[in-house]
Amino acid sequence: MKKSKTGFFCQHCGYMSPKWLGKCPSCNGWNCFAEELIVESGSDSRAEMRFDGKPLPIEDIPITEGKRTITGIAEVDRVLGGGIVAGSAILIGGEPGIGKSTLMLQMMHNLAEKGLKVLYISGEESASQIKLRSERIEAISKNLFVLVEVSLEKMLEQIKIISPSIVVIDSIQTVYSAELVSAPGSVGQVREASSRLILFSKKYGIPVFLVGHVTKDGSIAGPKVLEHMVDTVLYFEGDSSHSYRIVRGMKNRFGPTNEIGVFEMRDKGLIEVLNPSTFFLAERPQNVAGSVVVPSLEGTRPILVEIQALVSSTSFGTPRRTAIGVDYNRVSLLVAVLDKICGLHLGGSDIFINVAGGVRVEEPAVDLGIVAAMTSSFLDKPIDARTIVLGEVGLAGEVRAVSQMDVRIKEAARLGFNRCLIPKTSTSEMVKIAKMEICKIGFLKEMLENLF
Ligand code: TYD
Ligand code: MG
Repeated sequence: MKKSKTGFFCQHCGYMSPKWLGKCPSCNGWNCFAEELIVESGSDSRAEMRFDGKPLPIEDIPITEGKRTITGIAEVDRVLGGGIVAGSAILIGGEPGIGKSTLMLQMMHNLAEKGLKVLYISGEESASQIKLRSERIEAISKNLFVLVEVSLEKMLEQIKIISPSIVVIDSIQTVYSAELVSAPGSVGQVREASSRLILFSKKYGIPVFLVGHVTKDGSIAGPKVLEHMVDTVLYFEGDSSHSYRIVRGMKNRFGPTNEIGVFEMRDKGLIEVLNPSTFFLAERPQNVAGSVVVPSLEGTRPILVEIQALVSSTSFGTPRRTAIGVDYNRVSLLVAVLDKICGLHLGGSDIFINVAGGVRVEEPAVDLGIVAAMTSSFLDKPIDARTIVLGEVGLAGEVRAVSQMDVRIKEAARLGFNRCLIPKTSTSEMVKIAKMEICKIGFLKEMLENLF
């Protein structure tokens, strides 16, 4: 009999070392190594998972992935790139209580109603708890099977017996394989369970959704390799103080990334928000200094968000800077540009930036919006309520072009905005939109002249 080997695994990123280390050379985490058994390859259960394939000329490979299953939840379908691809593995991460299980149940119910046999495997709740929740969100269907199980081997056995069209594992951290000695939730277990479930799904063409918890710092608990193994990674965002939830595609082998789906958490589960711009602008104050609307692009969809700024003279030695929803460093940079190039001295002011509704906008295209909001608050002059601004700001105070201008401006026009400030370098053919006054600007100073 072979001697079993152990190794030390980083519990954050899955880095393996033959001896214990205090600091992980891969992710620089401290005190995160735990000893785990190294799986012997070639054991029976693994042999069964092999593909046993032969090399084929690429021309002769039949396409099986073309067929997608539509979930019936339009927001999820779009994030997935038009439905679930057969045999794909989808990881869905998010903080506890954000609504992962709810979304999965609602989606499975939709699919079951279409006549597909679906299996929801939970290791976190009892069958009756799941039933209670399903009743609440009206997700009761005879084709929706529920299995409460944590053992990987038994799960795979049951999947083979029931042969469902889609499987959900809620959550991957609770799954454990008896072949490994390490505790459930440890890196070794999570990696082993995922890799076997993914192989299984590829081999039999059954799509599998893996629900993953996130750690305090926001990454999916368990090894980073999990994200490399699956085809699609979705993150559930939003905070508990707001009712909306966003599902964001972080990685997608079969579709666009950074696409988002917007939901609202109600007492009957998650409701799709088909018109997010209206949703995020609902409570916008009119004619108040420090507020401006920016069309930000999330994946392929433009979403109008309101950027708010409050600039007030500081009462302490060092001014406070707070940025919620936008990048803090970006704000500091823009403050410096305003100071140096436009002569607006914000150095002695506290600056608070907030994106209304709690959304996050990461793209530099909103730079001009941040600048406009800060200036408006600083000068105490409101910006016209029907004006949008759009553009990236360079260090010399120049306004740079942004991508997909036409989509963004069309969305603004649809919601009744009639004037927009855009970079000079934008080509003219993409900005022919009726009832929209286009104002092209090359430098920040021109923006200030045009806005106030
Ligand atoms: P859940 O799906 O259990 O979260 P996760 O699986 O990501 O941990 O979501 C639970 C939260 O959602 C809980 O705080 C209550 C809330 N909720 C509603 O507001 N309405 C509902 O219909 C349901 C089912 C949950
Ligand atoms: Mg859950």
